[in-house]
Amino acid sequence: MTVLIFCFCIVVLVVRKSNTFPLYFYTMILHATHTVLEPTPLLADQKKFYIESYGCQMNVNDSEIVASILKEQHFLHTQNYEDANLILLNTCSIREKAETTIRNRLKQFNALKKQHPDLLIGILGCMAERLKGTLLEQEKLVDLVVGPDAYKSLPQLIATATEHGKAINVLLSREETYSDVSPIRLNSNGVTAFVSIMRGCNNMCSFCVVPFTRGRERSRPLASILKECADLVQEGYREITLLGQNVDSYFDADTKTNFAQLLHQVALINPLLRLRFSTSHPKDITEEVLYVMQQHDNICKYIHLPVQSGSSRILDMMNRTYDREWYIAKVNTIKKIMSNCALSTDMIIGFCSETDEDFDASMSIMEYCKYDLAYMYAYSERPGTLAARQYADDVPEPIKQERLQKIIALHRQHSLERMQEQVGKTFSVLIEGDSKKNQDEWQGRNEHNKVIVFPKSHYQLQKGDYAMVQVHACTSGTLIGTIATNP
Ligand code: SAM
Ligand code: SF4
Ligand code: F3S
Repeated sequence: MTVLIFCFCIVVLVVRKSNTFPLYFYTMILHATHTVLEPTPLLADQKKFYIESYGCQMNVNDSEIVASILKEQHFLHTQNYEDANLILLNTCSIREKAETTIRNRLKQFNALKKQHPDLLIGILGCMAERLKGTLLEQEKLVDLVVGPDAYKSLPQLIATATEHGKAINVLLSREETYSDVSPIRLNSNGVTAFVSIMRGCNNMCSFCVVPFTRGRERSRPLASILKECADLVQEGYREITLLGQNVDSYFDADTKTNFAQLLHQVALINPLLRLRFSTSHPKDITEEVLYVMQQHDNICKYIHLPVQSGSSRILDMMNRTYDREWYIAKVNTIKKIMSNCALSTDMIIGFCSETDEDFDASMSIMEYCKYDLAYMYAYSERPGTLAARQYADDVPEPIKQERLQKIIALHRQHSLERMQEQVGKTFSVLIEGDSKKNQDEWQGRNEHNKVIVFPKSHYQLQKGDYAMVQVHACTSGTLIGTIATNP
């Protein structure tokens, strides 16, 4: 048996060093090792943590960083909060509603303290910075408050909170904080992963709380990004989304690498690795980035390009630094360089002083761009932001909601049109797992980020494989296809 285990370990090491091994073989070997190796026995006093993430993808990735830091302290991750000694909420402050949801959740968790007086409850992320005093001192809803740049101090903070009942660190950093931490992929499908390339934001859009909660922009060193991406490929991951509030302003000063050059280098790691990135501020995405996207088949032809409003007057008040015409010209450039590039956007409805004409301008820019995907929000005033200090939040709530419903309905038409345009076409689909509705079907996405389901049929495919799929029908959210026999 010992010899057998030894041989297996050698094979696994060889396979992990090789990029060229077919994925199905790699998966098979990993599966085999799971059955041979004994699980590590649980220590009787081993503590467990439970974590929930709210807000953007960066928070999801930050929770994975937190999991890695806690694992070093021998904490086990649990999916069941009733089992946990430590409950963490990685929070978002972007709109008032997000904060209300988290407050309610904290109250629910606090009720558990009656049965588990030793339970520690902590908040991480953007609310930590904004509401540290209120949540810790006044409402006494949490024992721990840890800001987005302070996760490395979690072990000390946990010790302090255990001893003294509370602990806090919300210091923001001017340097990239976590480049040496290997995130532990929580709830991962084993195929797609997030990699943060920068933190913070210097843009000061007048409505936005992020520059206050996340601090100044800083880029992660090139070498640590390339290493994390290469490691993910070795582990079998096939799609990476590079994350930052403003990815196009990435700049590694030591190697003088900008975002276009970073994209190029990550794309070269392995042709089987697919790349996405988010978010691009329209003012920062350069033609160099667009040409790098065009040049590499493994960079998905999909750009999230938040417009926020179609009215130049409102864009000026939002401090977005572009106007309607400039944004439209950027969209035209994208389509000229990559005619097949999918576009998505964010739109804020009911910003301070928005008139019917301003709103019509937002409707008409949606009409012009016919986005594949759009996230639309009613403006929510955030204390301390430039807009909260300078302008009145004067569009009545019922009007905000009425306009929001109108623009959502318009976008639904566009996204359905965009889906219908795909019928009859064939796409390379990265399989992410079983379809949610039918175990006999695979689910994956094409390079335009559209979900595609198709029957497993008799083909020997696995999660993480690519398949050529011909689309023959669609709903508003899903393309339905079959494996193309003649791709
Ligand atoms: N960095 C991205 C960019 O430049 O567009 C945006 C990141 S922000 C986390 C995500 C979206 O939330 C924004 O694009 C905006 O549409 C929305 N948002 C931000 N602040 C908001 C507010 N005060 N009220 C409503 N929506 C808001
Ligand atoms: Fe907020 Fe603007 Fe920065 Fe995006 S670019 S995070 S909207 S300040
Ligand atoms: Fe929310 Fe902070 Fe992200 S405010 S959207 S979690 S950067």
